[in-house]
Amino acid sequence: MGKLSGKVALVTGAAAGIGAATAEVLVGHGAQVVLGDIRGDLVEETAKRLGDAASAVTYDAADTASVEHLVDEVIARHGRLDVLHNNAAITAQAWTRDTTVLDTELDWFDLTLRVNLRSGYVAAKRALPHMIAGGGGAIVNMASIAAFSGGPTLVAYGISKAGVATMTKYLAAQYGRHNVRTNCIAPGAVLTEQVLENVPGVTEAAVAQLPYTRAGQGTDIGNVVAFLASEDAAYINGQVITVDGGGTAGTPPPADTAIQAGSGPVPA
Ligand SMILES: NC(=O)c1ccc[n+]([C@@H]2O[C@H](COP(=O)([O-])OP(=O)(O)OC[C@H]3O[C@@H](n4cnc5c(N)ncnc54)[C@H](O)[C@@H]3O)[C@@H](O)[C@H]2O)c1
Repeated sequence: MGKLSGKVALVTGAAAGIGAATAEVLVGHGAQVVLGDIRGDLVEETAKRLGDAASAVTYDAADTASVEHLVDEVIARHGRLDVLHNNAAITAQAWTRDTTVLDTELDWFDLTLRVNLRSGYVAAKRALPHMIAGGGGAIVNMASIAAFSGGPTLVAYGISKAGVATMTKYLAAQYGRHNVRTNCIAPGAVLTEQVLENVPGVTEAAVAQLPYTRAGQGTDIGNVVAFLASEDAAYINGQVITVDGGGTAGTPPPADTAIQAGSGPVPA
């Protein structure tokens, strides 16, 4: 018996990257998982690789009716929905189209908010009645450390992720008493295909800058989704959990500094 046995989960943006890794982790814990993505062939392929507990739906997160159909399809296939993981986001193209306030087109800003933020709101709105009727559920939203500070680029992305973090609080406050817990993950850099393709030297930079031994992988996030979706997290509601190897905690000492017990300042 896995900790998610008998549970039905929907993972959006699950054709590749963190979503695909998370779907695999959830299947490993015994859940039946529906993977949604705009890349139809790829999401079908990913679901097939995960075996009988997984199936795919092609949908467009920018389109309200398509998101609603995605949730409806989960209910049609499984009769219930216990876990909604809002993970889909515009990523690869954002590296060039989503830059500064002056250089980012308003149409791109609107599309980013529609896909990254509004689609999760629509999915939650459609899923909640089913979760409540089924006795409860767990919603896990996907933000980013980009939600917490400004930066030189990715302005629409960062604003959309701040919205995701706040949406988490509202869902938690309004539906916790229906036994629907809503939480959010804010990852630091995770070495998915789109990051490796678009951020040269990211692996070396992550290892050099992080106070940890390696950069993040999709399963690091998937494991936290599984935890938040499970009864192990029964008393956690409305939280934004940073999963970044300590990147936002502070910078490590230089690589050539030997740290030994008792090597700190001598007390006066
Ligand atoms: N990789 C990182 O370093 C990192 C860091 C912080 C947060 N995140 C977040 O984690 C999530 C996954 O990131 P990733 O690196 O795996 O990215 P990814 O691009 O590999 O995955 C995102 C998925 O969303 C899908 N998608 C995009 N537009 C869609 C649409 N209109 N309708 C349906 N599906 C659509 C894509 O096809 C893709 O499969 C995103 O929400 C991202 O913002 C990633």
